[in-house]
Amino acid sequence: MTENDSVGHLDKLDTTLDTPPPSGSGGSTSGGNRAALLEKIEALDAEHAKAAAGGGEKYVARHKARGKLLARERIELLLDEGSPFLETQPLIGWGSDFPVGGSIITGIGVVEGVECMIVANDPTVKGGALNPYSLKRSFRAAEIAEKNGLPTINLTESGGADLPTQKDIFIPGGKGFRDLTRASARKQPTISVVFGNSTAGGAYVPGMSDYVIMVKEGAKVFLAGPPLVKMATGEDTDDESLGGAEMHSRISGSSDFLAVDEHDAIRQARRVVARLNWRKRGPLPKEIHEPDLDPEGLLDLIPTDLKEPFDPREAILRIVDGVSTSSTTGDGRSTSGDQAFDEFKPLYGSSLCVGWARLHGYEIGILANARGVLMSEEAQKAAQFIQLANQKDTPLLFLHNTTGYMVGTEYEQGGIIKHGAMMINAVSNSTVPHLTVIMGASYGAGNYGMNGRAYDPRFLFTWPSAKSAVMGPAQLAGVMEIVARESAEKKGEIFDAEGFKGVKEMVESMVEEQSLPMFLSGLGYDDGVIDPRDTRTVLGLCLSAIATKEIEGAMNFGVFRM
Ligand code: COA
Repeated sequence: MTENDSVGHLDKLDTTLDTPPPSGSGGSTSGGNRAALLEKIEALDAEHAKAAAGGGEKYVARHKARGKLLARERIELLLDEGSPFLETQPLIGWGSDFPVGGSIITGIGVVEGVECMIVANDPTVKGGALNPYSLKRSFRAAEIAEKNGLPTINLTESGGADLPTQKDIFIPGGKGFRDLTRASARKQPTISVVFGNSTAGGAYVPGMSDYVIMVKEGAKVFLAGPPLVKMATGEDTDDESLGGAEMHSRISGSSDFLAVDEHDAIRQARRVVARLNWRKRGPLPKEIHEPDLDPEGLLDLIPTDLKEPFDPREAILRIVDGVSTSSTTGDGRSTSGDQAFDEFKPLYGSSLCVGWARLHGYEIGILANARGVLMSEEAQKAAQFIQLANQKDTPLLFLHNTTGYMVGTEYEQGGIIKHGAMMINAVSNSTVPHLTVIMGASYGAGNYGMNGRAYDPRFLFTWPSAKSAVMGPAQLAGVMEIVARESAEKKGEIFDAEGFKGVKEMVESMVEEQSLPMFLSGLGYDDGVIDPRDTRTVLGLCLSAIATKEIEGAMNFGVFRM
């Protein structure tokens, strides 16, 4: 590839990648990147399939035999026909003792033209009981709804707290009900459709919602069921009198709509949304153009060996809108001077590439690591660019492939700490929406400066090729060895280098495993691991959801250390 230094621009003619072979055809002349990445995507698909299978065949069959719809069928019927569902955190709980997905499904979907956060219990997984990962996932869903101003629809059927782990659920769990009423106060409507069990604390899901629909002979909403009532008060009663849909719709008034069956409940939920008088207040998308370069080529571009560098401009041009076909010649060159990516400061701080583009019609600023390490120039360039995006109320996309900030005497004396701090200040105090994609390495404070999870990006997705950790596994094990050697010397002991080899290998493989996308996604540190080819679609859905609310950039930042 030739980098055009004068304009920092790359178009169709500049790519070094060969035309990718048809999807699924295996290797390519661009090394083994495609085959290696496809293998990782296949493994990812297998994990997604496990999550989608819910509680497994036995519980799915039992649920269906009861005449009930599965959680994913409820979601599908709720959404506008043919519209996408952006599932968030589908792999939460991966690598834990709990089922992958956390017995709950969360994501953004379109109902009657309105982007909503959907939260659906999966009753085939432990009766829909909420474990610590379900809680994490639902809290993140509430946060996404809050930050982006989305209405929330709860599709409720849950056994409440997972009793064996109640100590991790009970106290923090109260936040879920608090979030519902706070959403209502922020004019973000909340709708609860109760299909089945919603008892004890769970009764406060409909209890705190603006609109409640209950399914006849399905919903059971009470603070205590008949056995507990008997124990507490001696009263003999039954489910229907205590908390049935008819009772709540006709007598207690806790339900606003009585649905004759599950399909009817979903139809009524759609009618509620249709009458929300919903208006989006953010930017309108401009004309959308397909990318200049084929997204399929991402599989040839992205090395799974993170030591191999790649040019992020090649990735950017496969993600962002291309130039209008009406203003391009047959080979993709622009006739109007338009370009898909307008790079800013291309000659300065060249291991961070920043610039302006459009994605699904939305204007964005992009910061992408180019050659791994961040130095003072890159950090200062980033701080300036983030301020420019805030000045013009433009969302930012961070594309990670960094080994962190540069270390060494020359760089310390050159002020790498204060320059890194400038970048972290700008990222932290920026108020335009941030999107983050971890494409490759995300190590050390580079993870922070590039708007990692702790910096509250509106959405964060990971590619299967990524790795995030305090540093690379080999480096970490090496540092541990140096520390252990020095410690032994200080004590006057002889360092057992041979014996330490085993510890080093163990640490290295542990850190390697813990830096992988599925492990980190399992802990809830991203909103999902995605096929790189889906990045444009996923980010487009995010930008559309973001546009629900006005975008207002900050002009007040903390003190920049100069
Ligand atoms: N915590 C942990 N596990 C639970 C659970 C809970 N709150 N609720 C159900 N489960 C488990 C069951 O033990 C069963 O596990 P198993 O199949 O491995 O034996 C599995 O989930 C399915 O439960 P089951 O009772 O067979 O399903 P169901 O569809 O017939 O009934 C409920 C579902 C939720 C109505 C029923 O399980 C129930 O009443 N649970 C307890 C509800 C409760 O009191 N929760 C506390 C509120 S804070």
